[in-house]
Amino acid sequence: MCGIVGYLGPQNGINIVLEGLRRLEYRGYDSAGISVLGANGRLAVFKKAGKLENLRNIVSEIHPTSNTTIGHTRWATHGEVNDTNAHPHISDSMAVDDEYSIAIVHNGIIENAPILKKELIDSGINFKSQTDSEVFLGLLLHELYQAKSSKKADYMQAILNAFKRIKGNSAFVIQTTDDNTLYALKKGAPLVCGTNQRSRELFVSSDPYALVGMADKVFFPDDGILCVLNRQNSQIRFFDLEGRPSSKVASRDQEISMQVSEKGAFEHYMLKEIFEQPERIRTLSNYYLHGNGQLLLQKIAHHHPKQIHISACGTAWHAGLVIKNFLERFNRIPCVIELASEFRYKNPILSPEDLAIFISQSGETADTLAALDLCLEQKIKTLAIVNVEGSTLHRNANESLLIQAGMEIGVASTKAFTLQALTGRMFGDVIQSKKINSAIFDKFNLLADRIEELLRSADQIQAIAEEIYNYKGFIFTGRGDDFPVALEGALKLKEIAYVHAEGYAAGELKHGPIALIDEMMVNLAIVTPKLYEKTVSNIQEIKARRGIIVTIGPANDHHLQEISNYYIPMNYEGLDELIPLYANVVSQLFSYYVAKFKGTDIDKPRNLAKSVTVE
Ligand code: G6P
Repeated sequence: MCGIVGYLGPQNGINIVLEGLRRLEYRGYDSAGISVLGANGRLAVFKKAGKLENLRNIVSEIHPTSNTTIGHTRWATHGEVNDTNAHPHISDSMAVDDEYSIAIVHNGIIENAPILKKELIDSGINFKSQTDSEVFLGLLLHELYQAKSSKKADYMQAILNAFKRIKGNSAFVIQTTDDNTLYALKKGAPLVCGTNQRSRELFVSSDPYALVGMADKVFFPDDGILCVLNRQNSQIRFFDLEGRPSSKVASRDQEISMQVSEKGAFEHYMLKEIFEQPERIRTLSNYYLHGNGQLLLQKIAHHHPKQIHISACGTAWHAGLVIKNFLERFNRIPCVIELASEFRYKNPILSPEDLAIFISQSGETADTLAALDLCLEQKIKTLAIVNVEGSTLHRNANESLLIQAGMEIGVASTKAFTLQALTGRMFGDVIQSKKINSAIFDKFNLLADRIEELLRSADQIQAIAEEIYNYKGFIFTGRGDDFPVALEGALKLKEIAYVHAEGYAAGELKHGPIALIDEMMVNLAIVTPKLYEKTVSNIQEIKARRGIIVTIGPANDHHLQEISNYYIPMNYEGLDELIPLYANVVSQLFSYYVAKFKGTDIDKPRNLAKSVTVE
């Protein structure tokens, strides 16, 4: 979703901000822009719909320089994708005398924008775009003109007043003609500031990843805290909504371990991330068995909830379904799982002995955070299973388990899914026995070995994808433990290959979807030892209707191989409850190769965002 990067310092900030925006491309966007202070003392914007490359092209023709600059990648919510609606929005020609020159960037949604816009138009403000974001700029101008009439015009006060009037979750960065200052504030949307004392540089962003290697200290302001970044003394000051100095800011040294992720020899981040899974699983095992993770596990070992609620979105929700199966099977604790966007509005039945688990790669998904807030308000114990250290979910949940997936860039989540599910399994094991057992990590490492073997034969999956990528539709099926990964397989294929795919419990096929089966439909059947015969019968039903069968099944199963059009042999031995995670890697690779043959933008699929920071 929208990315924000701001810079103040001794260098020309343009390339620094463009590099920050490049790193945020993975979040998904449709246009990009920057604003700079021009030689005439007024701000100027450069913005372009489409890829960041389009913006780079105009910037490289003009070579603007500016010690203070803000940049933005937009993911459209209000107003179509075009140059005008791209950010930054600039105040030129919005007010009669154009006395002020202000630029803003915004991430989020101003829910009361239509009402405010009407009011502002009536008071003489002109709007140039269709965005809700520009309404904040209109409010700001309105506040400045009003204050000026009483000779008290003050940017900080005007920003605070404007901010108090908007509804919804948003983050803003505001640039004025004062080359020494940037303002930033947020409510329910990610925002991070950074400093580098040696180079006397200051930064602000929607994502700490943009600041890796640039800032050595990062600050995470609470909601409603105004950050004033000052270039002269290289400091950031924080104020509450009444303009009083505030300390409601978490800070930490920027993670050295959080490296800027590059694709290396891989054609796409997604493929790289699929291939990273064995290594990341071993990292997870080491971290919790021998490393700092031991302390986190000891802290949670005392949990004995009566009931567990799981909330998450997208792939993380599928990981939640896997975790629910683990917890119900091994811990016999009833688990209720809800999509976070449903949970937050359904008045869930919660009781004080319950535990609520929130699963998220980014830790910034708006609906998941709202579900967390609901539980925190009701004093329900909360646990985050999260990848990004320092994210809002990580900071705000009562306890957190980091999944150790490393940076995930591909919009379609792969390694995070596997590691979220394993972290859930580990959690269940620890609360069951009240201690850290090495046996569970041995099993994780066996899974890593098996995935490694499978990845060595990725070519066989590529060959199958090449033959069937143009088929009409794909139904992923699995029973019991395999059902969540059938859903996840279908989601992956839709996301990146733009083909219709569905995940179904194999036994449900005859209650509807079987009507879709003909010789142009593919069934990817996940067949594992549990409920083997039942799943094979379902395959026969598809075959009888001339559907194409791709089976992920046990090695050396000649009968199953014979009835399948394509067969991917698996070594399930010893993996038991981890089998679905192993089979899921086949779906990840299959989706990747289908997308590759279709020629889609695999790492940044159309319309999708990596981190969904609006409802
Ligand atoms: C977006 C991403 C998905 C992800 C979901 C939840 O839709 O495209 O890949 O699963 O958000 O994100 P989270 O960061 O909370 O895991």
